[in-house]
Amino acid sequence: MRIVFKMALAAALFLGCGPMPDDGRKLVTDEALDTPLRGVTEAERAAFFAGDATFDAMYRPVDGLGPLYIRGSCASCHEEATNGPGVVEKMAAVYDDGITPKPVDFPYGRSVRPYVTAGATTPVEPGPDLKVTQRVGLPILGRGYLEAIRDDEIERVEALQSERARRGESQVTGRINRVTRHSQANPDDPTHHLQFGDSGLVGRFGAKARVATLDDFAADALQGDMGMTSPLRPEELPNPDGLTDDLHPGIDVDLDTVNALATYVRLVEIPQRQEPDPAAVQLFSDIGCAECHVPSLHTRADYPIGALADIDAPVYTDLLLHEMGTALSDGLEDEDARSTEWRTAPLIGLRFLRAYMHDSRAQTIDEAIRAHQSEGSEANASVDRYLSLSAEERQRLTDFVGSL
Ligand code: HEC
Ligand code: HEC
Repeated sequence: MRIVFKMALAAALFLGCGPMPDDGRKLVTDEALDTPLRGVTEAERAAFFAGDATFDAMYRPVDGLGPLYIRGSCASCHEEATNGPGVVEKMAAVYDDGITPKPVDFPYGRSVRPYVTAGATTPVEPGPDLKVTQRVGLPILGRGYLEAIRDDEIERVEALQSERARRGESQVTGRINRVTRHSQANPDDPTHHLQFGDSGLVGRFGAKARVATLDDFAADALQGDMGMTSPLRPEELPNPDGLTDDLHPGIDVDLDTVNALATYVRLVEIPQRQEPDPAAVQLFSDIGCAECHVPSLHTRADYPIGALADIDAPVYTDLLLHEMGTALSDGLEDEDARSTEWRTAPLIGLRFLRAYMHDSRAQTIDEAIRAHQSEGSEANASVDRYLSLSAEERQRLTDFVGSL
């Protein structure tokens, strides 16, 4: 764990590099957010705190930051394991409808990478005529539960929704984002045994469920958001200056660092929930929120973190993609997901979020629910039912959602 302390020290020394865009909101809470899972072993507890330090560490150019990057640490977009303040801006080329993607090549990717170091001079910035949307750094609370859920549970819910839709009982028809692994094989990951290029995997992570596992996500975030290469993603992303390396020659962080980050994310607990109001639980189900925000799904018996194995995980998501309507479209296709499709957001730790929805467009839970409604959204009927509740019932429902 020596490397972790070295990086924590680096964090203290790194003075940042000018103003960085964020959602402008401060986190106001006295409660500890990122706590380890209840019931973990001593070794897991130690791994949690070591990984937490790596997650907070601010990388410097000499550590391999860049040549292009968005932020220097994981925590700058996932402060205290919740959402933001850092955001990623995404670029898309769309036809006049503002929704349908145009076949335009993005040689440097879809993410705006505004900061340069290590000799780079040209950031990746949106050109004219592009649609620019924002994705806030998602909360990482309880994400180990999401990884532990059995594939066949998610397949079961997908089949159930399609059966109910076929019988005309519902408009909700989620589908799995079948994704490909873009990271190299990870010999030290006890959770999965995947190779580079393995496909047909059940996507779970990211606002469009574009990644299947947390080690793949950690390696992707290091490379894409920070310009930090690792054995899982050994190459710098293409950039306008054609640079293939930075001030840290070769691969920037080792496999232990990637796994420390993935392990930390796996071990972050779902914040303690209050005893639910039974009437609100009933409403949540009656008006169809629970069709997508499935209260619990069963986990794998062989998941290596014992506290997460073979349990009903209270995640309030089906991990499926849903058509969410024109108003939410971003013109982007992530793996198999379309412009208007989004993964059902897990309702976890909502009282700690600064704002709601993938781009933080909603300031309150009521606004978040209303934002589910636009042309073509599978959630339209559910929002109609919400709007026809009495003001008092709506309050009970949003209080309950906010307590999750
Ligand atoms: C510049 C901001 C930024 C930085 C830095 C960043 N992230 Fe993220 N993170 C995001 C955004 C935006 C998303 C949503 C991405 C998407 O929809 O594909 C995300 C999503 C995630 C998720 C998936 C959560 C979910 O609910 O599916 C995990 C896990 C994650 N990040 C971990 C990390 C780790 C580990 C690091 C550091 C190596 C990191 N992130 C660095 C912005 C950031
Ligand atoms: C058709 C599936 C579907 C239904 C029905 C549905 N949701 Fe959602 N919900 C989603 C998706 C997908 C997102 C993520 C959208 C985004 O990020 O832009 C979401 C996001 C949310 C969020 C924001 C969470 C966050 O992390 O920002 C809240 C709150 C929420 N839903 C509550 C509800 C409530 C309450 C109901 C019932 C009135 C409901 N939802 C019905 C699919 C659904």
